[in-house]
Amino acid sequence: MPYKGPKIVTIDGPAGAGKSTVAKRLAKELKLSYLDTGAMYRALTLKAIRQGADLGSEEALVALARSTVIDLQNHGAGVKVLLDGKDVSEDIRTIEVTNKTFHVASAPRVRAIMVEWQRAIGKKDGAVIEGRDVGTVVFPEASYKFYLDADLQERSRRRICELREKGNDVDAQRLTAELKARDTKDLTRSVGPLKKADDAVFIDSTHLSIDEVVGEMIKHINAHG
Ligand code: C5P
Repeated sequence: MPYKGPKIVTIDGPAGAGKSTVAKRLAKELKLSYLDTGAMYRALTLKAIRQGADLGSEEALVALARSTVIDLQNHGAGVKVLLDGKDVSEDIRTIEVTNKTFHVASAPRVRAIMVEWQRAIGKKDGAVIEGRDVGTVVFPEASYKFYLDADLQERSRRRICELREKGNDVDAQRLTAELKARDTKDLTRSVGPLKKADDAVFIDSTHLSIDEVVGEMIKHINAHG
């Protein structure tokens, strides 16, 4: 049966492909809210680190997830991430959190909880949702699906610029290696791996501006509306 719920647009792809910037812009154009699923994995990871939880224990992470409230609030320019009511929008972007998120992301029962939260948010009023498994697992019935990719060197260059702009001291070689390692973990985990849905539109953003990517997406949506 064709999908009849609110409008859901999914954007999956590896880190640094431009998903967040594009998804925020697209959400604004389509007057939908924006949901960053990676922020949820990051927020739970941050809580686990702060509480000294055993990141290798699925049991501990499930218990932690069940006693956690993660709220993503859309604000004009960006998104506020609230972890148990406290703003952690910046704290979840550290290199430590980034490199430890795979523990939470590869625990099947924790993913099941995350997916449930994401479905509840998306189904309310529709959304542009970005992540790794949104078009394949979270919303396989989505109205429109995109898979955004770019060369590793370009993705790494973008991440380095982002981090340096925020005043971080970045070792470029190390960051590229960490990005590659994260890609491998995201691509190879047994649950919710990074994967293009068969019916997703593939866009390579290596040589495209944000405007061009958003333009391609809108063109596709209008042509299939
Ligand atoms: O998108 P972002 O880079 O912030 O995501 C951080 C991490 O969260 C990813 O590397 C991935 O391991 C995990 N993630 C996931 N599934 C999603 C979104 C993010 O496993 N839908």
